[in-house]
Amino acid sequence: MRVLMTLLLAGGVALGSGQAVAASCESTELFGHMETLADNLRDITRAVRGNQLAEAAARMNVVHAAIEDALPLTPFSRRELSGEALEQAQADYRAALTETRELFEQLDDALQAEDRRQALAVLSNISDARRSGHREFKDSSCG
Ligand code: HEM
Repeated sequence: MRVLMTLLLAGGVALGSGQAVAASCESTELFGHMETLADNLRDITRAVRGNQLAEAAARMNVVHAAIEDALPLTPFSRRELSGEALEQAQADYRAALTETRELFEQLDDALQAEDRRQALAVLSNISDARRSGHREFKDSSCG
């Protein structure tokens, strides 16, 4: 009985923290938000390169929403952690994604200022953040 209660409680905590049970990395909620982020970032980059800054700015809301939705989730690669180790992993992931969110805020500012050169510089930093976020948190089975 105690074992059953523990399992139920653990399941409840996992669900409460937004952790959905996923069979593979490609089927996670986080993967879906990342794809939204990638699709829009591709269009934003194309627009900035073509000096269509208003068009790029119009896509930023979707990017911000995808990051907000991704923040409370847990990377698939950390799915087997529990307790303190899980909390630490979630904190590390959130810190990295929060830094990335700040870069997108810098991109907002550059687009508002119609500063194409600065927008390109920030896009390059976003690309680096993506690479290091994936190196640290993306499962090797993923994408
Ligand atoms: C900044 C731009 C980013 C873009 C455009 C992006 C895009 C993507 C894409 C397209 C995938 C699917 C797999 C693939 O094709 O590689 C993915 C997966 C993933 N990304 Fe990102 N990503 C970004 C930043 C980050 C950052 C900063 C982190 C970590 C803090 C992160 C964590 C992950 C994780 C953990 C997965 C695997 C999904 C899962 O574990 O459920 N990404 N990302």
